[in-house]
Amino acid sequence: MILKQGSLYTLKGESFCYQIKVDKHGKLLHTYAGSLIDGDASSLFSLKDRGFSGSDYEEGLERTYSYDYLPMEIGEVNRGDFRTPGIIIRDEKMITASDFRFSSDRIYSGIPSISPLPNLYGEAETLELTLKDECSGNILILSYSLISDAILTSRRLIAGEDIEVCKLASLSFDITYGDYDLITFAGRHCFERIPERTKITHQDISITSRRGASSHQVNPFAIICGTDTDETHGSCFGMHLLWSSSFRLDVGKSQYGATRINFSMLDESMGYKLKAGEELQLPAALLTYSDEGLSGLSLKCSDIIRAHAVRKAELEVENPVLLNSWEACYFNFSGEDLIALAEEASSIGADLFVLDDGWFGSRNDDLSSLGDWNTNESKLGMSLTELAMKIKSKGMLFGLWVEPEMINEDSDLYRKHPDWALTIPGRKPMRSRYQLVLDLSREDVTDYLLNTLTQILTDTPIDYIKWDMNRSLSDIASATTDADKIIYKYEINLYRILESLRMRFPSVLIEGCAGGGGRFDLGMLCYTPQIWLSDNTDAIDRIQIQAGSSYGYPISSFGSHLSVCPNHQDGRITPLVTRSSIAMLGTYGFELNPRVFTNEEKQLLREEVRFYKENADILKNGDFYRIRLDNDIAVFLSVSKDRCKAVLIAVNLSIHGNDVDKYVKLRGLDSSKLYKLSGGKAASGSFLMNAGLLITFKPGEYSSQRITLIAEK
Ligand code: DGJ
Repeated sequence: MILKQGSLYTLKGESFCYQIKVDKHGKLLHTYAGSLIDGDASSLFSLKDRGFSGSDYEEGLERTYSYDYLPMEIGEVNRGDFRTPGIIIRDEKMITASDFRFSSDRIYSGIPSISPLPNLYGEAETLELTLKDECSGNILILSYSLISDAILTSRRLIAGEDIEVCKLASLSFDITYGDYDLITFAGRHCFERIPERTKITHQDISITSRRGASSHQVNPFAIICGTDTDETHGSCFGMHLLWSSSFRLDVGKSQYGATRINFSMLDESMGYKLKAGEELQLPAALLTYSDEGLSGLSLKCSDIIRAHAVRKAELEVENPVLLNSWEACYFNFSGEDLIALAEEASSIGADLFVLDDGWFGSRNDDLSSLGDWNTNESKLGMSLTELAMKIKSKGMLFGLWVEPEMINEDSDLYRKHPDWALTIPGRKPMRSRYQLVLDLSREDVTDYLLNTLTQILTDTPIDYIKWDMNRSLSDIASATTDADKIIYKYEINLYRILESLRMRFPSVLIEGCAGGGGRFDLGMLCYTPQIWLSDNTDAIDRIQIQAGSSYGYPISSFGSHLSVCPNHQDGRITPLVTRSSIAMLGTYGFELNPRVFTNEEKQLLREEVRFYKENADILKNGDFYRIRLDNDIAVFLSVSKDRCKAVLIAVNLSIHGNDVDKYVKLRGLDSSKLYKLSGGKAASGSFLMNAGLLITFKPGEYSSQRITLIAEK
């Protein structure tokens, strides 16, 4: 419900409330965000004469009304608010200032279209506030869509004169008072999204990706929470930017104790130029809230992403178990090898065979051919279509790897169009994995890519695409696009291609990937329902990567596969069932050649697939809880929405002689129900959640337990 009471706007969800007030001068104050309230929270503001905090000119001789103190909806620069701004606009004379004041409002049902930028879908009510800067004529339109129990923001700037937009936050607000922590998700290639919790102090914190991708190193999801908030208690805000390129999150505490948040695309060097009359649409941002701890927030994020962001592909098979050829054979295969691998995959119960890198141009290693998306028939010994048909005749779906945004210098495409790669005139480009980046800011390059991919999908019966991207962007200069627009246009065109393919081929499942999880964000999830979570397939490392990612994203979006031992990334040896159980906390699949297994192990894998299929609905659509994760044990629980079934997965992380017992208290069950546990025991929900459960393991490193809980009728 969106309430307008005079100049006060209150957006009320089921448990979350966001309040904005237009003040006497037309400026937008952010009065409140948090659990439901009635009343005007600006009554908490304390107006007094504050040294070195000036007042609006219209205040005359009154010295108590300062925008350097008041909690604002968007902080501006050079007009008396000295905190970190959410908007920085420079005019032709290099004067940096803006002063947006209320012009009009509109409340309507639906979500504003911001196409081709990624957006949520579904029922919503929207508040639109139009602000105008009289001096420049610039107009800023702020939209707040109340969707489910969360708020989706989007912003649009219309230039009234020629300007340079140096910064414009998609989400910004001040929290009037209180001590807060910031949780961000940091990492590196093969070890993404590990939570880092920092106290918010008077020092500005900025989390930035400058990589032209949301990146392995940081993530455009972050949490602001009370300093006493933990997994099960306390209030917290989740913030997602629906944007897959460089971004910047600024958080800091003001001199008077308010916490300011600004979440924007691109970094400090954005410098986007607009001519009078031109517009800039900013990416959307999603604000979620829970007063039931980080676990409550994760449930909300998962629910909203599954219901309002992810567009499911209409695949023939539900929850397909896939086998990917990468760790099975890397670049070394013939068509017959792949058919044999697909047969093996089918024999262990996989539904979908994915041919990874190495099928095109003359690619036998990562030195060449990106850009030449024609089948290497001499390597395969057949056409791609023949291969796909042969694999499909075994009753399997067929999937294909592509890395469309990249180009190797050793490719026909580069020899024909060297100007299609991002390159700074007069400088040699930086290589990364021997490849350069295609200039997707160009319409001709975008059209070429879209046509090429459309042709492949038309010619060959493909059910799945793995869309990879294996380097960060550098040398950002284009032969045709103005430098300030390259990243923005690149991203828009990337989304445009993904959306066109999705519309044209609704039954094709596209899995995102960027060297694993280098572009795991809500922007991509609007087009790719699942994303390869990490290039690290070691189950023990994956526990951390999956747990970290689960704070802001549903586990149904985690590309997750069982691989061989010793693990190819770190050499670790882990029991087969442990590897399998961890892979089930995602889109289950295999990254191996089943031929390396004994018949007994293959039988075990078949049973694992059967278990996954039986429980996929609970695992993918249920409520996921991080029950316990420390140096001793990792325990995760997925509970069906009706709380009648649950799957618990536990891994022993430490072994000692005469070891201490390992207990957990479950969550999310129905207290009044009696649950039968696989293994024979039974206990009530209240017992399991309050008294707890003793988890025992077989001896040996990294052994695991998988327990199903079924409520008695
Ligand atoms: C990086 C991906 O994350 C891997 O799974 C694999 O597809 C390789 N690229 C192929 O080059």
